[in-house]
Amino acid sequence: MARRAATQGESVRANRSWWDAAADAYLHEHGDFLGPARFVWGPEGLTEDEAGLLGEVAGRRVLEVGAGAAQCARWLLAAGADPVALDLSREMLGHAQAVGRDTGVDLPLVQADAARLPFASGSFDIACSAYGGVPFVADSAGVMREVARVLRPGGRWVFSVTHPLRWVFPDDPGEPGLVARHPYFDRTPYVEQDESGRATYVEHHRTIGDRVREISAAGLRLVDLVEPEWPPENSRTWGAWSPLRGAIVPGTAIFACRKD
Ligand SMILES: C[S@@+](CC[C@H](N)C(=O)[O-])C[C@H]1O[C@@H](n2cnc3c(N)ncnc32)[C@H](O)[C@@H]1O
Repeated sequence: MARRAATQGESVRANRSWWDAAADAYLHEHGDFLGPARFVWGPEGLTEDEAGLLGEVAGRRVLEVGAGAAQCARWLLAAGADPVALDLSREMLGHAQAVGRDTGVDLPLVQADAARLPFASGSFDIACSAYGGVPFVADSAGVMREVARVLRPGGRWVFSVTHPLRWVFPDDPGEPGLVARHPYFDRTPYVEQDESGRATYVEHHRTIGDRVREISAAGLRLVDLVEPEWPPENSRTWGAWSPLRGAIVPGTAIFACRKD
């Protein structure tokens, strides 16, 4: 593990391989919580049914960015939307395809990088992302621009990421994960690498202010910033997200934006 620079290309290559290799284990571990067709914004368990951040979705063309196994896109389909699920990982999309085969409910799946959306300008009413893509890209400003481009005027873009405050704490669900160790202002990426120094996994940090500026610079307007509280009934530990930490430090930030 290292803190070092990582370009968009290196991050894309590393994360594509990582998510391809991790897809089975990730869905084995979290598949029940995510369900085949639930829209969950993060480990706290806040759902779109409860949050209503996307507004009316019925009849709307919706892009899910970093869709993974497309659980959210399937929820959107059931709610009457016309969704497209985009993800970098072929294996994650393979799981989406398998669920489609098993349930007979198919939806369009697209393999692409969130920073280069292969769609015409103004082709979606809504874009959304639950921890998909945004935390993993070097060029998050580019993702904001791309989403703004493919949205129609009046469209919404809502995305969740690890809460920026978590950057200062070790990735540990227990007590050690409550001791601030790393500067919030250090944007140097978190990189896992092999013996030859080749990145195998990359996460990029932005402060809250960075995110707000990237949203504005893309011509979008931030209308809400939701920090879901950890509900007492959620006893589940998800990686470094746990009831212990969730009671004290926010774990997820959901940015709700509009294209005017
Ligand atoms: C934590 S999962 C989130 C997916 C789903 N919402 C879930 O909760 O399982 C992160 C997803 O982001 C995808 N991803 C990573 N980097 C990406 C990129 N640059 N463009 C698009 N998707 C990306 C991964 O392949 C993975 O499926």
